Amino acid sequence: MFDDLAAANVAQYRGLFETPVITADVPDVAALTGELRKAISERRSQFRSSERTNLGGWQSDVGMLQWGGDAARQLGMLMVQMCSRFTLDIGQVDPESPRFEWSAEMWANICPTGIGHESHTHPGALWSCVFYVDDGLAEKESPEHAAELVLQDPRNPTPLMYKPDLRWIDGAGATYRSDHRIRPRVGQIIAFPSWLAHWVTPHKGERERISIALNTIALPARSA
Ligand SMILES: [Fe+2]
Repeated sequence: MFDDLAAANVAQYRGLFETPVITADVPDVAALTGELRKAISERRSQFRSSERTNLGGWQSDVGMLQWGGDAARQLGMLMVQMCSRFTLDIGQVDPESPRFEWSAEMWANICPTGIGHESHTHPGALWSCVFYVDDGLAEKESPEHAAELVLQDPRNPTPLMYKPDLRWIDGAGATYRSDHRIRPRVGQIIAFPSWLAHWVTPHKGERERISIALNTIALPARSA
């Protein structure tokens, strides 16, 4: 008989119900980011900011796939394809006849120093993605000045309701956290379920931070 089941490796920790988050670094991204930056700058010179999740700065309308040129369409394709690879229609009978096809809306965000995005979700979509055109850091600046994407535990605040200082630890001793922070790199795509609440910490870099967001929307296939 054991007197300590955990110490004897009899008690095993099982983390259930994962939240899918997918990241990818687009290779050789300089030409793509150059084109995107040009399209965004032109749009910004013509249109005022939309007011959605940004706390200041500039946010475009959601039609960037229409006004952003080939670079925006190429990026959109990469994002939608990536999300599609991690999605399965379990009701599809004929492998040649998909029941859904993807539509997407894309927009650009510019955060000057001190600006972030408030906590929000993206209703009406399945996956949401973000791509980083510019981290907004000057050459001499520390990466810690770059804003973070903060993904919030969708059960929040339930796991901390009972006693906020009592945290679960897994078998390796890692402590439960109610959020997950990512400091993105230029050229990185991050995709997550659209119901996952997220926010962006205020940007501390000297230059403007530029990101592009995209929602994937599943529509009935026209051929179905
Ligand atoms: Fe968002």
